[in-house]
Amino acid sequence: MPRPIEALIHPDALTHNLARARECALGARVWAVVKANAYGHGIERVFDALRAADGFALLDLAEAERVRALGWRGPVLLLEGCFEPRDLELCSRLNLWHTVHRDAQIDWLAAHKTQQAHRVFLKLNSGMNRLGFTPDVFRAAWTRLNALPQVDEISLMTHFSDADGAGGVQAQVAAFERVVDGLPGERTLANSAALLRHAAATAADWVRPGIMVYGGAPDHPGHNAAHWQLRPTMTLRSQLIAVQQLNVGDTVGYGSTFVADRPLRIGVVACGYADGYPRHAASGTPVLVDGVRTQTVGRVSMDMITVDLTPVPRAAAGSDVTLWGRGPHGALLPIDEVAHAAGTVGYELMCALAARVPVHVA
Ligand SMILES: Cc1ncc(COP(=O)(O)O)c(C=O)c1O
Repeated sequence: MPRPIEALIHPDALTHNLARARECALGARVWAVVKANAYGHGIERVFDALRAADGFALLDLAEAERVRALGWRGPVLLLEGCFEPRDLELCSRLNLWHTVHRDAQIDWLAAHKTQQAHRVFLKLNSGMNRLGFTPDVFRAAWTRLNALPQVDEISLMTHFSDADGAGGVQAQVAAFERVVDGLPGERTLANSAALLRHAAATAADWVRPGIMVYGGAPDHPGHNAAHWQLRPTMTLRSQLIAVQQLNVGDTVGYGSTFVADRPLRIGVVACGYADGYPRHAASGTPVLVDGVRTQTVGRVSMDMITVDLTPVPRAAAGSDVTLWGRGPHGALLPIDEVAHAAGTVGYELMCALAARVPVHVA
């Protein structure tokens, strides 16, 4: 008998969330961002549900090959472009559109022998200081690219650092508009947070939603997924494998960090950090037992966590436990809440789902 833990992927929610992205996109075409193996969901598992996307954006070349192997003939964009010159051969063979964010990538293109001219997305560093040409050299890069026979169409791209928070997008949008003014080509600016919070200010030809497609609120805890009408696309569920009765003063787990201040029934769940549950989730992290909301007590260990059974007195070994996602009887536990209790973001929990957890498409 395998451990009772499993993850479920919900295609109906993926399709719904993608439709939400399209609603927000003001007519722009929508890349479904499927990097990091579709934010931990599995590219092959999400593909059918996301077929209504206009393109798939990712960054591993092997993942681009997987999208093509699924039969997708539409646009595929490499968000970080090529990592070495021979990547261009794959771009030619699989007709991948690719980001150009530094000079070496232009050098490689200039030396690339191809019958098929490439579509590239020239990236402006409008303030995030991660990838892209700074405003002072952006136009020179555009001119170089435009002179290459290897390049067909040049699109223009930037990425926001603060679309989810108080910083907003205004300064970066202004920088982008200033630099690309008068240049031909399609534009793409918005990630999920920009789409949900600044759709009009970031309107362009393409949008690039990631986390919202997977039901995460990019600006949690300011807003939650329900506020943005997003549905969870991943459930992590398990069962109780033991129950303990604690007396006042009894402790739980490694380091004895939790001390019972009253008689307490606790359940032991077959899920730990080796499954991708965050070790830094403090006592008090929400969890559902038989669809009833309760909380963790004590430290997360490799294979187990412990939970307070006070609100679910009938829970016993074998009871259903929802770590995040959809619980029984319509109960929901947003992944963002669990992430928040662990000092991280839903993105990280999705991506960190461990290989040992069996995943099923619901
Ligand atoms: C260039 C780019 N575009 C879009 C996205 C999608 O972002 P989000 O998941 O916040 O929507 C990312 C993710 O980091 C990215 O790097």
